[in-house]
Amino acid sequence: MRLLVTGGAGFIGANFVHLTVREHPDVEVTVLDALTYAGDRASLADVADRITFVEGDVADAELVGRLVAGSDAVVHFAAESHNDNSLSDPSPFLRTNLLGTYALLEAVRAHDVRYHHISTDEVYGDLELDDPARFTESTPYNPSSPYSSTKAGSDLLVRAWARSFGVRATISNCSNNYGPYQHVEKFIPRQITNLVDGVRPKLYGAGENVRDWIHVEDHNTAVWDILERGRLGETYLIGADGELSNKRVVELVLGAFGRPADDYDHVTDRAGHDLRYAIDSTKLRTELGWAPRYTTFEEGLAATVDWYRRHEGWWRPRKAETEARYTASGQQVLA
Ligand code: NAD
Ligand code: DAU
Repeated sequence: MRLLVTGGAGFIGANFVHLTVREHPDVEVTVLDALTYAGDRASLADVADRITFVEGDVADAELVGRLVAGSDAVVHFAAESHNDNSLSDPSPFLRTNLLGTYALLEAVRAHDVRYHHISTDEVYGDLELDDPARFTESTPYNPSSPYSSTKAGSDLLVRAWARSFGVRATISNCSNNYGPYQHVEKFIPRQITNLVDGVRPKLYGAGENVRDWIHVEDHNTAVWDILERGRLGETYLIGADGELSNKRVVELVLGAFGRPADDYDHVTDRAGHDLRYAIDSTKLRTELGWAPRYTTFEEGLAATVDWYRRHEGWWRPRKAETEARYTASGQQVLA
C-alpha cells in the first residue's frame, strides 16, 4: 500500500509513521508536512531512510492532487492543533484545518483514494464534572474554541463528501494524547520540561478541568484498525478510559520528579476553557476489537517523563520561545 500521511512531522503523525514502519513494513509511506512551528524533521530522523518526505502545504491543491494521485490511502493528521494559539490568532486554523481538508477531499474524490480523517473529541464541546454521560458517535457537535470549531467544520466536510460524492472516508475523534515527540506548548510536556529546568508547573485556573488521557501509541493502533477494517462513512471515537483532573496530572508529574504534590503555580485560566471531556469507545472496541496497550496512566507517564529526560536535544530548541509566547499572551502566575 502507498500511504500518504499529512502532518507526519508533528506529534501524533510522527508516532504514526514510526508505528507504521515498525508494524506495517510493506507500506510505502510519504509524509506531507509544512514544517510549521509544530513540525520537526528530527521527529522522523530514525525512519528517514524508510519514508519519502515532502515539505508542503495541505491547502496547496496542485501539490496535494499530485501526491494523492500516487497514493492508495491518505491519513490526514496535519492541523493547527493548539487551543491557546487559536485564541491568539485563529487565521492559520481556518486555512489549514478547513481549506487543507477541502483540498485533500477534492483530491481523494478526483482519484478515488481511501481517506481517513483524524479529529478530536473537542468537536462535542464539554461535559459537566458530575455528568455521568460520556461522548459517543451520536453526541451533537458543539465546539467551543476557534480550534475545535475548525476541526468540527472539517469533520462535516468529510461527512458531506462521503455522502454527496461517495468518497471512501472514515473519521476518528480521539481524546487527549500524551507520549514522545509532543510539542512543549502542550500541558504534559510543558510541565515535564519545566521540572527539568527547576521551574514550577503551571496549572490553568483551579485545575479542576478533566481530560481523558490516551497514550499516542494507542491512538495510532486504533487508526490502523479503522483504516484496515473500519466501515466506510463511519465515525469511531478513540479513548482509553483515562479521565483525570489537570490538578491530579500535575501532582503525578511532580511525583515522578520526587517533588511535593503542591509544588505548582496557578496561572491565568484559558478563555472559554472546556470543563471535561470523556470518551465512550464501545463502538471501536466491540466492532474492531481494539484495546489500549497502556492500561494505566502512571505507566505511560513514567515512560514519557523518561523520554523527555533522554531527549533534551529534541525539545530544548523550542522551550524558551514557547514560554515567551505564553508570557506575551498575558499568562501570569496568580497570587
Ligand atoms: P501537532 O501540532 O503536533 O502537529 C501538526 C503537524 O501538522 C505539524 O507537523 C505541522 O507542521 C503540520 N502542519 C500544520 N499545518 C500544515 C499545513 N498547512 N500543511 C501541511 N502540514 C501542516 O498536532 P498533533 O497533536 O500531532 O495533532 C495531529 C492531529 O490529531 C490533528 O488533526 C489534531 O486535531 C488531532 N488530534 C490531536 C489530539 C492531541 O491530543 N494532540 C487529540 C485528538 C486529535
Ligand atoms: O481533546 C483532544 C485535544 O487535546 C486535541 O484536539 C488538541 O489538539 C490537543 O491540544 C488537546 O487539547 P487541550 O486543550 O485539552 O490540551 P492542552 O495540552 O493544551 O491542555 C490540556 C489541559 O491542561 C487543558 O485543560 C488546559 C490545561 N493546561 C494546559 C497548559 C498548556 C494547564 O493547566 N496548564 C498548561 O500549562
